[in-house]
Amino acid sequence: MSTPFGTWVPSASRLADNALRTEPPWSDRVTSGLCCRRLAPGQRAGSVVIVIRDVGGDPPVSPTVAVEAVRLARQLVEPLGRRWSHVQAVAARAGELSSTVDPDERDVLVASAWLHDIGYSPEIGHTRFHPLDGARYLSASGWPPLVVNLVAHHSGARFEAKERGLSADLSAFPLPGEPMLDALALADLTTGPAGERLTYDDRIAEILRRYPEGDPVHQAWLTAAPVLRESVQRAQARLAAGSA
Ligand SMILES: [Fe+2]
Repeated sequence: MSTPFGTWVPSASRLADNALRTEPPWSDRVTSGLCCRRLAPGQRAGSVVIVIRDVGGDPPVSPTVAVEAVRLARQLVEPLGRRWSHVQAVAARAGELSSTVDPDERDVLVASAWLHDIGYSPEIGHTRFHPLDGARYLSASGWPPLVVNLVAHHSGARFEAKERGLSADLSAFPLPGEPMLDALALADLTTGPAGERLTYDDRIAEILRRYPEGDPVHQAWLTAAPVLRESVQRAQARLAAGSA
């Protein structure tokens, strides 16, 4: 199958091209071949910098999927204003949570965090249900199935799909494993719409305020909130334990 990654060979110059910025000083976090440079203290989320470079590993993990994810997210989400700040902060948080998932899937977690909201882009949105629109676009573009499925099911998408009568459409995408879903839920549901760090309860309250009663999103979260709280708590417990 032809994919965005099929013939692409990472090189120092190509990685530099795809990096958002490279200025020091940053604290480096090396996770299974990926290096995510995090916010300096006091930096605003709007200036989050994620730099991904090949730092080896055993076996080496190709950073290609995450690098391509940054490129595509920037293309589709940056024009959407503050949602770009949200996505950058979620991706940074996913990097911090990489110890909670299988080492072989850490690059996929980070890539999925970059891509989880691309369905909001008017360039690719059709159903106006962003997890499904994003997943369909990625699937049609040949992205790895786990990335596609994580985008489809991120942060309890199945609850909103039910409200919108799109459960059958969403079920075309298999549900990924719990650690990956939990990590992405924790990253997304403790990050506000402008990239600010929130508690889970504050994030849910913010969603319920932003979408009025009667809106499918509001209705979905009334049901989803207790279930997703458990998901977030599982990821927090894995993070505290220090392993997947
Ligand atoms: Fe999000």
